[in-house]
Amino acid sequence: MLEPLKPQVVSILNNQMLDTEARLQQICEFLRNGIEYYDWVGFYFKNGEKEELKLGPYAGEPTDHTIIPFGKGICGQVAVSNENFVVPDVKAQDNYIACSINVKAEIVVPLFVHGENIGQVDIDSNTPDPFTEEDERFLEFVNMEVSKILA
Ligand code: SME
Repeated sequence: MLEPLKPQVVSILNNQMLDTEARLQQICEFLRNGIEYYDWVGFYFKNGEKEELKLGPYAGEPTDHTIIPFGKGICGQVAVSNENFVVPDVKAQDNYIACSINVKAEIVVPLFVHGENIGQVDIDSNTPDPFTEEDERFLEFVNMEVSKILA
């Protein structure tokens, strides 16, 4: 079901008319609009030399969590683990930062440039347990394509 979205992801990321930030913004909006259980889509990036993440382009409700220290929340854990984190039920997590009371599930997939974890894509869902391996593979693809324009 996610496979048909790939060509559009590639074409947004290759749009030379837009700067990187605007292309990532469009990716967030495209994923949020195109996949019904993606309610909030955003990119976090390592904040310079600091051991923290900073919010980049996103689509969905504004969040207070524009800075997340490494190790904190699902995002902060992925910054140090370098691994995908799929959360079927956010209530079952102790180390979780709530952005909205409507969120039921979350997936975070790290973004590597030249093998270095430089950020992540973060999706919140208001649907319980919606994410499958298909989402993981798809978001890995998205991040791979994003990494090409960041490299
Ligand atoms: N829930 C995340 C925080 C970011 S918001 O979902 C936008 C976390 O626990 O790291």
